[in-house]
This record gives sequence, structure tokens and C-alpha cells, in this order.
Amino acid sequence: MNSDKRAQLIRKYDVPGPRYTSYPTVPYWKNDPLQSKDWLETIQRNQSHFQSDEVSVYVHLPYCESLCTFCGCHKRITKNHAVEEPYIDAVIKEWSLYKERGLAGAQIKELHFGGGTPTFFAADELVRLVKALLEDQTVAPSEVEMGFEAHPNNTSKEHLEKLHALGFRRLSLGVQDYNPVVQKAIHRIQPFAQVKKVHDMAREMGYDSISHDLVFGLPKQSLKDILFTVDKTLELRPDRISLYSYAHVPWVKGTGQRGFNEDDLPTGEVKRELYEQSKLKLIEAGYLEIGMDHFALPTDSLAIAFLSKNLHRNFMGYTTQNTPMLIGLGMSAISDSWFGFAQNKKSVEAYLEGIKNEQLPIFRGHLLTEDDLIVRQHILDLMCHFETEIGKQESFDFYLNVLLKLGEMVEDQLVEMEGNTLRITEAGIPFVRNVCMIFDRSLQSNSRKEGVFSRTI
Ligand SMILES: C[S@@+](CC[C@H](N)C(=O)[O-])C[C@H]1O[C@@H](n2cnc3c(N)ncnc32)[C@H](O)[C@@H]1O
Ligand code: SF4
Repeated sequence: MNSDKRAQLIRKYDVPGPRYTSYPTVPYWKNDPLQSKDWLETIQRNQSHFQSDEVSVYVHLPYCESLCTFCGCHKRITKNHAVEEPYIDAVIKEWSLYKERGLAGAQIKELHFGGGTPTFFAADELVRLVKALLEDQTVAPSEVEMGFEAHPNNTSKEHLEKLHALGFRRLSLGVQDYNPVVQKAIHRIQPFAQVKKVHDMAREMGYDSISHDLVFGLPKQSLKDILFTVDKTLELRPDRISLYSYAHVPWVKGTGQRGFNEDDLPTGEVKRELYEQSKLKLIEAGYLEIGMDHFALPTDSLAIAFLSKNLHRNFMGYTTQNTPMLIGLGMSAISDSWFGFAQNKKSVEAYLEGIKNEQLPIFRGHLLTEDDLIVRQHILDLMCHFETEIGKQESFDFYLNVLLKLGEMVEDQLVEMEGNTLRITEAGIPFVRNVCMIFDRSLQSNSRKEGVFSRTI
């Protein structure tokens, strides 16, 4: 596809749209408040439907010492480390509340620490947490896929060693961009030498899946800056690279995103070029593009899962583990029983209060209808495999509506049909969110919500 045609498509399809870590997406959830009883019923339904006691557990560790002004995550900025112990106590308690309410025999197959900054916590606090979560397990720790998000500025040798000894083999390092002008704009000074030090230590210790998070579209970021960042990243050859599109969501309270001017942001075609040129470099260097914003070396388990169509996606992002249930622990964490979603309270205080009162600290969620489940599967297939089978389960009206809307995308060569299979073409990959939006009934049947989604390109 020539660059004029690509520019024209970017102008046409660059609209606000979901990132589809769930369907329905959070702004269209209907159960607010969500009652614990209803949520727990979806867990029972999951267990009888899938006949499995395997779960993935995500723990949200919200604290950071310093605010990065581009950040869209749920976090709490503090330098007071006295917050660690009560927070870890609460997470351990929350897991025991779940065990008392139907998950007594649960086997954790995947454990991920995200944030915020997990490495804000002392290594021994994290060790205490892992031991408590895994204490009743009958599966060996070596069979649990364990990973954590590591901030290069505060990840110590002790963190790496102690977590490795417990079975952690994956970590992702927040890099973002190596250019000093961009680092100043996002309030995150982090030299390459610091990232290299943590990366090399982890490699030496035997972490076999190291990922680097890069972001394109950051304030003051030029094409030269992102390509420089990609080049430096390739020097370390991480197993995985996330190349996130900067999500400008200044309406999210406490993001600090108002700390720079909107004019400093590359947008539309200029922003897309940052991705396209970076992608070319990564492909040339031997990485595979596996799903939206993600690249991996062919030897990495995520690439192997992508090629064998075993890739899965949940609130933690892309994963190789297709466990039927995800339990999110900690402030703002989201759980997913396939038949329902539940989100924990979004302030640390409200979360801790809920746990103190021996209640699941959930506040809102969504109980999926049969139609939701059909759409959910399509969106999951498109995000993970760039293709889906249509025309088998949907109502005739819905099927027709999808086909009509797809017509334009077929003409634009973003998708193609082969029998019942709808496939996203190579040129269509950057538009995967737009393809998913065609299936998204909740987006179509509700009035468009302003100020909730970042742009698709
Ligand atoms: C929780 S942070 C990673 C751990 C640690 N807090 C750190 O910053 O190194 C998760 C990642 O989300 C990405 N991220 C955060 N805010 C973003 C935004 N507004 N748009 C795109 N990516 C974002 C960044 O790449 C960041 O490394
Ligand atoms: S990018 Fe990471 S360290 Fe920075 S504020 Fe967000 S969560 Fe905290």
C-alpha cells in the first residue's frame, strides 16, 4: 500500500475507540453497583461450564514514588513506604475472602504483578505476598507462569533474586522513550545505562522472558526519537517489545497528563508514521508482530502461541495461558469470570475499608448476556488471531449489519473474506480496533460517550 493511500485511510479511521481488553468495554458495563452475590454466581457458572479450577491472578500494586505525566494507570504517588505492609495484608485477605466464597480449590496457573509500580515494594513484602497466594497450591511453582512489571529506576538485585527464587521468569521493564527531551516532558528521567543494568542482571539470573514497554506518540517525540529508542532497545534484544500507542486520556483523574501542551503531541498520520517506521525496524531485526502493539522474537512463548493460534487476551494484555478465570486483587483491579466482570474500588482507602469489613471490595461490573458472549468471542479472535468465523451464531440482523459495515473495509483492503472467515490483512493490522468496533453492539446501541476512549490510531 502506498503512503498516500495509507494517509487517506488514517484520516478516515482515526476515531476514538476502545482497546478491547474486555467486551463489553468498561464504559458500557451495566451493573453499577454490582452485587457480590451476582458476581459470585458467575464464578460458579464458570466452574460448572469449564469444569476447571485453574485461575490467573493479577495483583495491582498501585504505589509509585514519582508521577510520570503521561501515565494513564491507576496509581497513588507517595514516598511513604509505611503503606506497603497494610496493603499487602489486604491483598492476602482479599484472596482468602475469595477462597471462602467458592475458590477454595483454585489452582493459580498465572500470577502477574502490575501497577503502579510493584518494585516500589520491598522484595520481602513481595515474597510474603507470593508465599501467601501460593500456599495451598497443589501445582508446583514451576508450572505457574509468574511475571512482574519492573520500574528500571527502582528494581534492585534483591527484587530480581528473591522473585526468581520463587519461580518468576518474566518481567517487563517500563522504558517509554530514551530521548532526554521526551523524558523531561513526561517527567521520567531514565538513562539507557540504568535499563541495561537491570536487563542484564535479570538475563544473567535466568529470566527467560524479558519485555520492554515503549510508547509512541508521546509529547515532543519525533520520528528520530522513537527510532533512536527502538535502536537502543534492539541493542538489548528483549524477548518481547510492547509498542504502545500513547493513550491521551487527560480526563482520567490524577494522570498528570495536563502537565504538557496538547500541541506537543504528534497526532494522526504523523503519529502513525512513528509506529510504521518502528515496526519496520523491529521486523527487520527478526521480531514478529503478534497482536495489537506487541512484538516478540520467534523463540518467545507469546510468538509461539500466536503462530499456533493459542494466544489469549485478558486485562493483563496478551498471554499464553488460556485459563477460564482471572481474579484481580488490589485497588481498581478487574476480575473476569467469562460470564461477568467485576472491578474493585478505585481508591486505596475505599479498597482497604472494604477488606477490613470482610467484603469483596468490588463496586461495578457487567453480567454478560448471550449476545455479549458471541460478540466477545469475535473480538477476542480478532485481537489475538486477526481473524474470526462469522455467520454461525449471530442473529440474521446482526450478521447482515456486520456484513454491510465490512463492505467498506473490504474495499479499503483492510479485511478479506474467505468462506465464513473474516481476516484482517497485513495493511489492516493497525486498524484492528476499528474492525472490532463493527462487532461492538454496546458501542452502536448506546449514545457515543465523549472523553472515554483514546483515538484508534
Ligand atoms: C504500570 S506501568 C509499568 C511499571 C512501572 N510503573 C513503570 O512505569 O516502569 C505500565 C506501562 O503502561 C504504559 N502506559 C502507561 N500510561 C500509558 C499511556 N497513557 N498510554 C500508553 N501507554 C501507557 C507504559 O509503557 C508503562 O510502562
Ligand atoms: S508510568 Fe509507571 S511509574 Fe510512572 S506514574 Fe505510571 S505507573 Fe507510576
